[in-house]
Amino acid sequence: VKITRPKFVRTIEALSKALSNQLGKRRYVLLTDDTVGEVCLPLLSEFLGANSPLDIIEVEAGEACKAPEVCVQLWSHLLQLGITKSDVLVCLGGGSVTDLGGFVAATYKRGIPVVFIPTTVLAMTDASIGGKNGIDFEGVKNAVGTIIQPESVLVYTGFADTLSEEQYLSGFAEIVKHGIIGGNPLWKDLEKYINKRRALDERLLRKSVDVKLIIVTKDPFENGDRRILNVGHSIGHAIESAFLKNGQSVEHGIAVAMGILVELKLSLRLKRISEKDAFSIARVLQDWFGHVLPSFPDWSQIEPFLIHDKKTNSKKILLPLPISIGHVEIVDFGRWALLKDVYNQFVG
Ligand SMILES: NC(=O)c1ccc[n+]([C@@H]2O[C@H](COP(=O)([O-])OP(=O)(O)OC[C@H]3O[C@@H](n4cnc5c(N)ncnc54)[C@H](O)[C@@H]3O)[C@@H](O)[C@H]2O)c1
Repeated sequence: VKITRPKFVRTIEALSKALSNQLGKRRYVLLTDDTVGEVCLPLLSEFLGANSPLDIIEVEAGEACKAPEVCVQLWSHLLQLGITKSDVLVCLGGGSVTDLGGFVAATYKRGIPVVFIPTTVLAMTDASIGGKNGIDFEGVKNAVGTIIQPESVLVYTGFADTLSEEQYLSGFAEIVKHGIIGGNPLWKDLEKYINKRRALDERLLRKSVDVKLIIVTKDPFENGDRRILNVGHSIGHAIESAFLKNGQSVEHGIAVAMGILVELKLSLRLKRISEKDAFSIARVLQDWFGHVLPSFPDWSQIEPFLIHDKKTNSKKILLPLPISIGHVEIVDFGRWALLKDVYNQFVG
């Protein structure tokens, strides 16, 4: 499998050109959400000229669009438009839009080409890369989906300028995750760059993307190595779900940062990581995200969601844990009680 490597462009004009080149003479439908449709799409539309989409479909912004009902509406809309394999679905948006659009494109007519134009830091560094897509089902995140490569990913970092502080930092949590997995040179940058909102640095983003590309290339269908990319996610997803259940919300990446902090503690308890590296990772997380971390839910609120998590296996209890800076390993830590104890001590 050839993993799609994103193309970086410096201006909206260059983005529009790159899109035209990619599409050639093919027709396309543009999928976006109602916020991105208002904030980013007008910038791009200005340059599209004669190369405008056959239709623009806007879904509700955020995780809510990753739903079976929305897929049904989209499949039906594409049928009505007479879209075939010779056409393209272009997804402009964050990870929710690329996950939804990637899945709809993979399943409609057994697969039509899809192009991603990520507009959040999270989607630029993570969600648009590697081919995983999917929707939520019966309260379980990403319960239904496929792994299939987009035809192209076009990254214009300027879209990140309009993100809220929480959304911006949410994406940086995945960059910090890549820094823990890949180590230097990305880690050094993250230690230096700490917690200043500024224009998204393309070089930093490229280093982060490279970490993901290396891992996904080794394991395109997530049979082994790729699971280390889930560091922070098992606990992070459970925290996210607990918030949702209480009618609150937390940005995906912020929940991942919370998950990494807990997993760091677990790794320390298991004596798998040195105090020096654990301290250094905790400091970077604290410096970047300390001011936006909500309080941790009680164990009783996250436990039911941990059992649902597909990345944990009922006999062995496997979690990717940070072992050192530049090394994450899937560890069987044996007992739920241990995780519960570490969690309660940490939260307390
Ligand atoms: N497929 C993968 O490998 C993968 C990896 C990581 C995360 N994900 C998924 O990605 C999703 C989270 O992605 P996300 O954080 O990008 O969420 P999102 O797409 O829901 O975007 C968050 C919010 O930001 C708004 N937004 C997007 N771009 C904007 C811009 N440029 N300016 C202002 N507002 C903007 C959106 O409208 C939305 O309200 C989750 O569903 C997660 O499961 C997938």
